[in-house]
Amino acid sequence: MVIRVLLLGSGYVTTHLATGLERLKKKLIEPYGIPLAKYKLPYGLEDIEVVGAYDVDDSKVGKTLYEIAREVMGGEYPVPEELKYVMVRRGVRRNSTDGLGIHAQGLDDVMGYEGCLEALLKEWIDLRPDVIVNVITTEHGEEYDDVATAMNRLKEGDVPATHVYAYVAALYAKARGGVAFINAIPTPVANNPGLLKIMEDSGVTVFGDDGATGATPLTADLLEHLTQRNRLIEFIVQFNIGGNTDFQALTREDRNQMKELTKTSMVKDITGYEVPTYIRPTGYLEPLGDKKYVAMHIEYLSFNGFRDSIYVNARINDSPALAGILCDLIRLGKISVERGWKGTVYEVNAFFMKRPGPRGSPNTAKIKAYYQLLNKFGLLPLHKVRTMV
Ligand SMILES: NC(=O)c1ccc[n+]([C@@H]2O[C@H](COP(=O)([O-])OP(=O)(O)OC[C@H]3O[C@@H](n4cnc5c(N)ncnc54)[C@H](O)[C@@H]3O)[C@@H](O)[C@H]2O)c1
Repeated sequence: MVIRVLLLGSGYVTTHLATGLERLKKKLIEPYGIPLAKYKLPYGLEDIEVVGAYDVDDSKVGKTLYEIAREVMGGEYPVPEELKYVMVRRGVRRNSTDGLGIHAQGLDDVMGYEGCLEALLKEWIDLRPDVIVNVITTEHGEEYDDVATAMNRLKEGDVPATHVYAYVAALYAKARGGVAFINAIPTPVANNPGLLKIMEDSGVTVFGDDGATGATPLTADLLEHLTQRNRLIEFIVQFNIGGNTDFQALTREDRNQMKELTKTSMVKDITGYEVPTYIRPTGYLEPLGDKKYVAMHIEYLSFNGFRDSIYVNARINDSPALAGILCDLIRLGKISVERGWKGTVYEVNAFFMKRPGPRGSPNTAKIKAYYQLLNKFGLLPLHKVRTMV
């Protein structure tokens, strides 16, 4: 039993996911940070196999994930030899790297837009992925209200790279019969009605958008706590400063807007009222590296008109957090395809995503969404399964 996985984007998250999975298989690490590791799933973590990776950065394309992981993690880190067998292939670029100061070329730059769709589809048919994970640089992307608008934009090539990958996933699912597409970045796919319908009709299971890690799920759960106690939240401030390339990319306003949208949409969904809110990545400071600085301040009214404050200061390793939840999303993707669940699965998104699709779905606290997820998949804790056997 193998789950064949393609990774779009060969940066920090991909590196952590690929190295972490191999280290798990060798039992060098415990599965901490993987929410469903304590539950019985039809697929184990050892069943996940990375069969291909993509990027557009000329300094990465053609290298192996092993070489990239050595560069990203530093010489001290024990990079598993197995990653020598995964080569980084050239993906589709559109405008995803504009303004980042890297030398990048996509298949679309090399062979034109139509040629690149065909080339990518052919490669995927050869690689036979069960699950495709999108962790490319956050890019600006619009939502298409209906299939006709989405198709026109896709035909013209007037779309971000994420939407091209999503469309090729649809073509692939039609040719092969089903695939899961996990959109872990804010560029809308699960929240994109026109695109989502094309994918659904072609047999794609979509999870998205924007993996919920770091401070956002913590904020959601704190908001739920305060709401359950009927405290009036007066304002929320939450900001992040990081030193990885993702933060560097987010210093561009159009990309940052994508993030802000996914993070602020949850506040009213949980509290039921408008709260003055400032939640966004605010800066890039290289020495912080991948371990971002998070600050949060929530002010609220309690009984008898008294005002309380919550302050949180944290340093959080950004990419391993997303890589951990991807280990579950990949397995749930494969299971959902097998169950014939096409389109998107809200219960998965509600727990794992910052902006759970489909568009207009409520954003609940993660502590509530967790139990909905267990119910949806009928998951039992491993210790109970052992007692039953
Ligand atoms: N906790 C987290 O780290 C977290 C949480 C939620 C979402 N995300 C999102 O995950 C994504 C990846 O994060 P990261 O830290 O690995 O970033 P990164 O910058 O290290 O890696 C992104 C990679 O994507 C590549 N890329 C850019 N355009 C591409 C394209 N069109 N096709 C293929 N590859 C392309 C870049 O060259 C780079 O190698 C970001 O969009 C980020 O917003 C991260």
